[in-house]
Amino acid sequence: MHNHTTQTEKNLESAFAGESMANRKYLYFAKIARNLGAEEVAALFEETAHQETGHAFAHLELLYPPSQMTVEKILELAIEGELYETNQMYPEFERIAVEEGVQSAVSEFQEQAKESQEHAEIFIKAAKRFKALGMVERFHANRYIKALGAVQNKAADLEPKLQTNNSQPSGSETAA
Ligand SMILES: [Fe+2]
Ligand SMILES: [Fe+2]
Repeated sequence: MHNHTTQTEKNLESAFAGESMANRKYLYFAKIARNLGAEEVAALFEETAHQETGHAFAHLELLYPPSQMTVEKILELAIEGELYETNQMYPEFERIAVEEGVQSAVSEFQEQAKESQEHAEIFIKAAKRFKALGMVERFHANRYIKALGAVQNKAADLEPKLQTNNSQPSGSETAA
């Protein structure tokens, strides 16, 4: 599990969040600019949004080095994130929105908590499938290794016989 505890790791998380938000925000602004007929501004936002994705990925690569990642690990990280959203973040946000009487936000937090739950379930299923697949592959690999071992043993058994058969009929034990 990746626990980001140093200040630099926390700063990388914040920088990643900021660049990611800039990406989505600029894509959203591009849509608005396009709807307002400002095609050039829309294109500028889209191009910049693309660069923000690159910035965000650069931070991610330091936070989650590709060399340390496995399929199990990335699924685990995704599940953890979705469960945090559905079990902690959205319920707390919903509570505050209720307190402040912002009904539109209450509904959205509830809706997205449900979707985070669905995402978590999808990733959990994928993790189980992947694990099962790994077990099947290991089973096949073990069977293959056993079969290979049997063939090798047989070959080792046959070798002296083959050598005997190939030796001169004179019965000389000295190899030519
Ligand atoms: Fe940036
Ligand atoms: Fe999600």
